[in-house]
Amino acid sequence: MISSIWSNPSHLPTALAESASAVDQLIDRLLAVPDGPEARVYEAMRYSAQAPGKRLRPFLVLASASLFGVSLTSALQVAAAIEMVHTYSLIHDDLPAMDDSDLRRGRPTCHKVYDDATAILAGDGLLTMAFEVLADADTHGDPAVRCELVSYLAKCAGSAGMVGGQMIDLQAEHDATLDIGAITRLQRLKTGALIAFSSEAGAILGKAAPETRKLLHAYAHDIGLAFQIADDLLDAEGTEAETGKSVARDAEAGKATFVSILGLAGAKTQARALVDQALGHLDTFGDKADLLRQVAHFVIARRS
Ligand code: IPE
Ligand code: IPE
Ligand code: MG
Ligand code: MG
Ligand code: MG
Repeated sequence: MISSIWSNPSHLPTALAESASAVDQLIDRLLAVPDGPEARVYEAMRYSAQAPGKRLRPFLVLASASLFGVSLTSALQVAAAIEMVHTYSLIHDDLPAMDDSDLRRGRPTCHKVYDDATAILAGDGLLTMAFEVLADADTHGDPAVRCELVSYLAKCAGSAGMVGGQMIDLQAEHDATLDIGAITRLQRLKTGALIAFSSEAGAILGKAAPETRKLLHAYAHDIGLAFQIADDLLDAEGTEAETGKSVARDAEAGKATFVSILGLAGAKTQARALVDQALGHLDTFGDKADLLRQVAHFVIARRS
């Protein structure tokens, strides 16, 4: 059972650290470096995937899985897969053709340490391996569940989700016509979709009723948007030392964000309202959802 992983489920920092350590061990095994000249792409994949990120998406998988009595082995497979997809999205996001960022997770970005072509391949390698992991028999005994995970992750990561959001985001540079509705849609796709997959994964693994899964979808919808507003606030107000990544890039690029449209105070009010709304979707889960409640507060209180 997942609950055995958390020595202190009422203390979010401890639970986050324990979840991160378990998923990191699995990623380390999955990314074993082979002999041969292709080792370079594995090294680049490991460089980015093992760098110290928050591991928020894996945590959401484990926390949602704990609501439905899912086994730790199953949940960790999905947690590793979503972290691989997320890391790929960061490697590509940092490339010169996209955000041209030099710092990520407190370290030089993948393309700075290797080169652009290797960074592209490292992202491709992580993305494709995630689907291999989901399709593996260790992920779930029922092939229909594995198929649903593969299909939903493809939807959330692809052009109807994160990739589509990244496309709109690039177009948001120097586009003063984007209003709050358009920015909301952009952020839901760019960031919200992978957070939705992570939050719903437990319900898929536990074969929860559709109405129950919908509650987690609604929760993710709200915390995903709040998470991206916090990211935009950190870009505007945070430091590289705190965030471990390049900051002040959005304003420099003239990008329309919640901060550019609502201002700092307005963006903070909006983020708080979204967190309150997210909490409302968890009522029926009772105490079991306490970690998900704490995460909702964490997504806007964080400084990195
Ligand atoms: C950064 O995500 C990219 C966004 C979607 C805003 P995180 O803030 O979760 O990055 P890591 O995983 O902790 O490095
Ligand atoms: C990128 O958003 C989100 C992804 C899908 C990778 P940002 O460009 O704002 O992310 P950061 O600020 O570089 O982490
Ligand atoms: Mg970007
Ligand atoms: Mg970026
Ligand atoms: Mg950002």
